[in-house]
Amino acid sequence: MRSNGILSSVGVLAACVASANALVPLWSRCGGEGWTGETECVEGAYCKVLNQWWSSCERVPVTECTTFGPYVDPNSQTDGLNSFAVRRGKYFGTAGDWIYEDVMNCTWARIASDPSEFGSFTPGNSQKWDSTEPSQGSFNYADSDQIVAWALKYGKKIRGHTLVWHSQLPSWVTTGSWNATTLKAVLENHVTQVATHFKGKMFHWDVVNEAFNEDGTFRNSIFYQILGESYIEIALRAAAAADPAAKLYINDYNVEGVNAKSTALLNLFKRLKAAGVPVHGLGLQGHLISGQVPTDIETNLNRMAAAGAEIAITELDIRMNVPPANQTAADAQLAKDYETVTKACKVTGRCVGITVWNFTDKNSWVPSVFAGQGDALPWDKNFQKKPAYYAIARTLKP
Ligand code: XIL
Repeated sequence: MRSNGILSSVGVLAACVASANALVPLWSRCGGEGWTGETECVEGAYCKVLNQWWSSCERVPVTECTTFGPYVDPNSQTDGLNSFAVRRGKYFGTAGDWIYEDVMNCTWARIASDPSEFGSFTPGNSQKWDSTEPSQGSFNYADSDQIVAWALKYGKKIRGHTLVWHSQLPSWVTTGSWNATTLKAVLENHVTQVATHFKGKMFHWDVVNEAFNEDGTFRNSIFYQILGESYIEIALRAAAAADPAAKLYINDYNVEGVNAKSTALLNLFKRLKAAGVPVHGLGLQGHLISGQVPTDIETNLNRMAAAGAEIAITELDIRMNVPPANQTAADAQLAKDYETVTKACKVTGRCVGITVWNFTDKNSWVPSVFAGQGDALPWDKNFQKKPAYYAIARTLKP
């Protein structure tokens, strides 16, 4: 379900058809004896000579691409979203993937690697079940290891994402004929293997993702169908045993304001705590709509904090219809919305940080999933900072 990746490749194909001078796509021929076609590769790729007759567009190795340089203590930086957050005892982070033009794009890599902007990193797709255990018992960490190593190199703390989720779940799990014993074993094994593999490298783990329906009942995932609510405890215990240092989160969307779903999430947290289950945090994804940010977000964060939960805004983006009728007004509204969310985290002592779900409109998942919407992030498609960026900075600046 990597729709944004698929969409961008379709975009590349369309561009090739439309123009005779289209740049050569990744892995395609760009030179060699007798070649009369285009020789310049798409962004993030270069034309590598394979032999006398054949050159091909290959990815620019990230070592050549990442220009930020070695890790710099964000405390020594004068500005940047993470530098400001760090001085408040919090972090500011982003998400991304190696593929889909994230780390492959040198401008992206330069901004993302800058520790004054981002102190935390969330792998956007590579740690999900379909990537890490695509067939039963066969674990694959090629993509996740690569992005984790990249983020660690730039001093990021890493939010592991995610161990148990109904989506991006391989069909061997969703269509298997399980009973409580067999599915419990599968779940425990998955969580144990993945959390052990990344042991010591994740500061947070989104152990359980999107467990609830909008009305606060449990989502009828395969895990809930077979194991009931106990699947959550099983996953948390396995994660704690495998990586005792990681803070364990339950993560969901539409839980930023006070509503049936956030109340259910909070009640789950209280039940787990009372039962002595290892759980530390509530992750509020923050996939919001501009002009519709819940006005009671602070109240909601407060009641979660009062229950002893650590809180993180884990996937913030604030989408709008695009193109907006009035760009200036849209920019101003978005800035106000980012300010509202940032302020809620700022004033809630137990809110430990904010992660945006990618930072540039160029690479956001929003347009591929919400038709006609976009412009949801603090940097625009050309990597320019929008008023929303400055609103976050102003709000966090000590
Ligand atoms: C999204 C990714 O950004 C997309 O690339 C992918 O196609 C679908 O998943 N909630 C989550 C994230 O917890 O994992 C989702 O990420 C966005 C919604």
